[in-house]
Amino acid sequence: MTATKRATTVLHTRAELRAALQGTERPLGLVPTMGWLHEGHRTLMARARAENATTIATIFVNPRQFNEAADYQRYPRNEARDLAICADEAIDFVFAPAVEEIYPPGFDTTVSVGAVARPLEGAARPGHFEGVATVVAILFELIGADRSYFGQKDAQQVLVIRQMARDLAIPTEVIACPTVRQPDGLALSSRNVHLAPDERAAAPVLRRALLAGRARWESGERSAAAVREAMWEVLTAEPLAIPAYVSVADGRTLTELDRVIDDDPALLSLAVRFGATRLIDNEPLP
Ligand code: PAF
Repeated sequence: MTATKRATTVLHTRAELRAALQGTERPLGLVPTMGWLHEGHRTLMARARAENATTIATIFVNPRQFNEAADYQRYPRNEARDLAICADEAIDFVFAPAVEEIYPPGFDTTVSVGAVARPLEGAARPGHFEGVATVVAILFELIGADRSYFGQKDAQQVLVIRQMARDLAIPTEVIACPTVRQPDGLALSSRNVHLAPDERAAAPVLRRALLAGRARWESGERSAAAVREAMWEVLTAEPLAIPAYVSVADGRTLTELDRVIDDDPALLSLAVRFGATRLIDNEPLP
């Protein structure tokens, strides 16, 4: 559904941001993004709009969270289209800074992330969460939002950012919103654009594998190894899918589990490569 039209003001510098936010009506809701906006971002924006008097989105492809320069370079960008989507979603402000505006010359401080950032994506992409936590800390400080909205698809990112905000006494509330999916189950991601047609056709295997894990658990199985096995079986039946990891972990700490206890939060998650494109997805339990 298209939101009621309100003018969107685009800001590029810290000074413009500071001036624009002075005296704005609270609460202020923030949706941080790296652009190439899709329906998932629209859902975050709609929630931010529904829960706050003023909304702001950021569009910044953060070089510090990419492990490989080539991955940063090939990250899809289209600012004009992104701004049109923000306007369509009646976002009040968009902060779209240049790299030097976030990391001015001489920038030399980073956020060091802890245990929850180490497994899964943290192990596969060294430095990634340090880059995420650093940029989000800067955005939280610059914007001073009351609430911020992130997709549950990046479940580990949500846990890392929550921990960072708590530890650094940043009062912005971190809200996770449900993953938005294509009708065939593929989670929306800016990276999906890189999938070749046969890879795109194969990619819903991530969702099928997660649902197989959930079904095994719902049938009464409590061994985490058996739940992992159920997910592996589905993934390995798809020739184009190259699994990187399959995890059944504690939903708060991301420590791998031996047993999935009934009411304790657990997270089924996986990362799978299709050619040069790496996709992740997850399913929280119960
Ligand atoms: O999820 C993303 O798009 C990014 O990791 C974020 C949170 C905007 C930080 O660059």
